[in-house]
Amino acid sequence: MSHGPSAPAQAHGGAHAHHVPYVPVFTDGSARLKELKDIISRYPDKRAALLPALWMVQQERGWISEDAMREVGDQLGCTAAYVKGVVTFYTMYHQHPVGKHFIQVCTTSPCLCAGADDVVKAFLEHTGCKELGLTSPDGKYTVIEVECLGACGFATPVQINEDYVESVTPEKVPGILAGLK
Ligand code: FES
Repeated sequence: MSHGPSAPAQAHGGAHAHHVPYVPVFTDGSARLKELKDIISRYPDKRAALLPALWMVQQERGWISEDAMREVGDQLGCTAAYVKGVVTFYTMYHQHPVGKHFIQVCTTSPCLCAGADDVVKAFLEHTGCKELGLTSPDGKYTVIEVECLGACGFATPVQINEDYVESVTPEKVPGILAGLK
């Protein structure tokens, strides 16, 4: 049998894959490694420290890369695939770089009826984020829509990193952004 035409050229997702070397979070002698070991010591199974370990990575790096998943897996004696399964299950973990301020606006029906759409628009406009999920050119903001934040009586609630702001209206958006550090 003759061999067929040459294999199709490999399709690349992006124009260029820039390879920034991964800097581990849990390096020997680091405070983070100590923190992780303290947590591990409290449980019979190292994997119990998985969620806090991921949280530490995200606090340090802003998101959780595949390299970070491998690092965490190595620390906790599980595979990177197992770690990835956990990362993808929880929406609080970012698998892509996000802005310094991660802005989540509730757009579930009760908030939508109260004008959440306009709040989203105001955040997109004032942050310079072109679209939901994209990061502003200055790297400061990412805006996404989320499901009910449990504050339906205070429409529209917005979560910015770990903080909540209630009763947000489009008019309040510039002031809220100005107050972010
Ligand atoms: S529907 Fe928006 S907080 Fe519940």
